[in-house]
Amino acid sequence: VSHVIGRTIPDDGSEAKDIAFANSLPERTDAPSPSGAMGLVYFPVAKELAQVESTIQNELSSDSAAVETLLNHSRSLGGKRLRPALLLLAAKSVGDVNPKHIFGAAALEMIHLATLIHDDVLDGAKTRRHQETAHEKFGTRSGVLLGDYLFTHSFWLASKTDSAGALRMLAQASNLVCEGEISQGASESNFDLTESDYLTIVSQKTGELCAVACGMGVKISGADNESVDQWTQYGRNLGIAFQIIDDVLDLIGDPAKVGKTLGTDLQNRKPTLPVIRALSVSDDGQRNRLLGLLREETVNVEAVVNELRSHSSIEYSRQMARSYAQRAVAFMDSQPASESNTALRTIAEMMVHRAS
Ligand code: IPE
Ligand code: IPE
Ligand code: MG
Ligand code: MG
Repeated sequence: VSHVIGRTIPDDGSEAKDIAFANSLPERTDAPSPSGAMGLVYFPVAKELAQVESTIQNELSSDSAAVETLLNHSRSLGGKRLRPALLLLAAKSVGDVNPKHIFGAAALEMIHLATLIHDDVLDGAKTRRHQETAHEKFGTRSGVLLGDYLFTHSFWLASKTDSAGALRMLAQASNLVCEGEISQGASESNFDLTESDYLTIVSQKTGELCAVACGMGVKISGADNESVDQWTQYGRNLGIAFQIIDDVLDLIGDPAKVGKTLGTDLQNRKPTLPVIRALSVSDDGQRNRLLGLLREETVNVEAVVNELRSHSSIEYSRQMARSYAQRAVAFMDSQPASESNTALRTIAEMMVHRAS
């Protein structure tokens, strides 16, 4: 028996034992299940998602009481589980799901959770997944360290896929998420940001994890490079559509449905697509009025939204999301028909209409 990453586990070290362990995981009934309408669409991989859930719940435990307090909070959080579902559905579209996919999917969701915890520190958000954010509950230092803990633990877990290629993809995607968040931070209060700069940031900070979900899913199944690239692009397009709608929901979403603090983009002077578009089609007078609202100490979200609506820039943003989602749908239409492909097609379509 040895002590590995905070837990006492049998020191056998063999891949066969890892796989036997994954196969023997009970489907926990106390674990949170994917929330929202999207959960229903995941049915072709429901059994495998339950294994991912068990893996996450089992991995998030520590012999240290201080660490356990933080992990207990992470374990209790729900969430849509979009990225693991994408990974498993993509894998099933091209072959069978095996325990390596389960480890990859659990690792990916853990990376996502780490980015959310750090993002909430950066954005000063108070609510996440219908609960108090980690940094709000335990303090900023604990929030930062919990995010680090989850990042490092997820790479340990990802190494169990036993695929250097998959691990490399995951590391590169995580790196690009950070790049996107850094670029976004650097563009705060820069209301000259172009649509193309915005799309680059969105593609990195959100597109990449959806991209790697699909790419890694088919990579672990043994797909060739061309196919991995196509699936990666499908995931990226879907992720870009997802973030554009997230930015719309930040302005006009229902906090009770979305389950997280909204309005933070405006308050943190993050130029998102609806704002960028309105500014670019405004005349000088309109532009100055909107800039005045955006620069107020406490931003009046309703007043800004009224301005944005008068330029149809929310509808324009939805349309942009729709065009990325349609590219994802078109790829699915080019693939052989299967339950998993239908689910992936539906998920791409749902991106544009989601309310949570
Ligand atoms: C939130 O992601 C962060 C964004 C990229 C917009 P999700 O909306 O997938 O968050 P959870 O996992 O459901 O909480
Ligand atoms: C965050 O973008 C994307 C991440 C890389 C975490 P947002 O800041 O818009 O995400 P939310 O709205 O807080 O979930
Ligand atoms: Mg945020
Ligand atoms: Mg947001």
